[in-house]
Amino acid sequence: MQSFEPSPETYERITGLRVVRKYRPEPIDDQQLEKILEAGRWTGSSKNTQPWSFIVLSDPGQRQRLAECGSFTGPLVGAPLVVVVVRLPGGGDFDIGRAAQNMMESAAALGIGSCPVTLHRESCARERLHVPEDHGCRWALAFGYPDLDGERQLRAGLRSTIPRGRKPLSELVHYGRFGGES
Ligand SMILES: Cc1cc2nc3c(=O)[nH]c(=O)nc-3n(C[C@H](O)[C@H](O)[C@H](O)COP(=O)(O)O)c2cc1C
Repeated sequence: MQSFEPSPETYERITGLRVVRKYRPEPIDDQQLEKILEAGRWTGSSKNTQPWSFIVLSDPGQRQRLAECGSFTGPLVGAPLVVVVVRLPGGGDFDIGRAAQNMMESAAALGIGSCPVTLHRESCARERLHVPEDHGCRWALAFGYPDLDGERQLRAGLRSTIPRGRKPLSELVHYGRFGGES
């Protein structure tokens, strides 16, 4: 059974997780990769169906070709490691989203940054990765050790249409019914 000892540090890490789109060039070694994949594997899913497969890409040419299947895919090119989260037939996006988040949180615990990336042209991604037609192939995760200076510069220049921070709880929490106040 897991420990339920309070862990303020874990709480801070979870609420503090932010995407990283700029990475240092050093590769992620196989042991670290396995830990990240294990965190995905242990994710809970509806009826424990585990409706996912993970495709690991480290080859720069392969990452570049996959990047052509989405519209904001810079992180896939710059990251030393990419994991594509494939949804098996009948699986739900909620389940694969949880697996993805677990991999990103565990990566952060290992000092590795990450960014989810949308493969807007899903059929392109399916074709390039040999994923069957009835499987979902819409999201990839970029992983790499953070290049903090590069990240700061990138964020300074990001389009102002992308909001920063998060909505306050008062805007998104409802009590008892939609629109209900505390
Ligand atoms: C489902 C999903 C798809 C995303 N797709 C992309 C993407 O295609 N390219 C990208 O650079 N970031 C992508 N992101 C990252 C979001 O832009 C990021 O989570 C959001 O701006 C909040 O960033 P922050 O946690 O650093 O504040 C995606 C995130 C999610 C959850």
